[in-house]
Amino acid sequence: MKKCAVIGSINMDLVLRVPRFPRPGESLIGSSFKTTFGGKGANQAVALGKLGIPVRMAGQVGGDAFGEAYCEHFQSCGVDVRAVQRAQDLTTAVADIFVNDAGENFIGTDPGANLACTPEWLDRILPGLMDCDIFLLQLEIPLESVFCALKRLHAAGKTVILDPASAAPLPEEALACVDYLTPNETELRTLTGNLPEASGTEERIRALIGGSDRVVVHKSGAHGAYIGTRHGITHVPGYPVKAVDTTAAGDTFNAGLAAGLAMGRSLEESVRLANAAGALAVTALGAQAGMPTLEAAESLMANSASTLR
Ligand code: RIB
Repeated sequence: MKKCAVIGSINMDLVLRVPRFPRPGESLIGSSFKTTFGGKGANQAVALGKLGIPVRMAGQVGGDAFGEAYCEHFQSCGVDVRAVQRAQDLTTAVADIFVNDAGENFIGTDPGANLACTPEWLDRILPGLMDCDIFLLQLEIPLESVFCALKRLHAAGKTVILDPASAAPLPEEALACVDYLTPNETELRTLTGNLPEASGTEERIRALIGGSDRVVVHKSGAHGAYIGTRHGITHVPGYPVKAVDTTAAGDTFNAGLAAGLAMGRSLEESVRLANAAGALAVTALGAQAGMPTLEAAESLMANSASTLR
């Protein structure tokens, strides 16, 4: 079994159910308020821990009660926290999240201690992660740190999975260090913003691959995912579930992909596992509440017909 490491954000999510998203200036009564563990990086680490994959988290929390609670939570989920540091003068990052009746969300974040994940911090923690094989990154810590990490991990021959979220245009020299790039629809459009507006999904995936060996795994929600390589594009159908909250579906998908690769499964099998893990993640309120065990994800794969959409 290969070991995974996640370098990224750690947020506390303040979640509120709303019947619909408010309009500017409007006050709306919501329900089911919850303070839950979140953050794209931390979500990926916790999802890997729940899937039973050895995983180390690298990030920063604040010197507050949220930071302390998060470190305990990581450990209870099987996540190695030796590379999680506490920025004593900062607050742990928070995300305010509205979830509507369709399970869609609206998110605003205060990055707090995530901003302490500087290139200098990376210099300190990276040597301690080099026994890991597969690295997962996202774009919720300073971009210059993400770019430094990509370069150094690529040079060291590590497998790098980049979730280009929250959406931002990325330079080719950063993309050149990525083995698996996993954009959703918004991120795919942002990364291929140079193409005409009317360009289709497959055209955008092909443009992102260019002539490279990079694999683009395009996350398409309930439709499943598209695997793009320079040899072609394959659709891997998703699993039908009732969506309660789609927050962290993409994070759980990335963990499923990494888990499959860590267990030595083929790319297509790993994407099937990612689809199942991501589907189960949306069945409960809160980023991490629906994240499945490996057994639960495999049971969904065995017992449910994939959607053909
Ligand atoms: O991807 C979902 C995550 O995005 C949430 O947990 C929230 O913290 C935001 O960062």
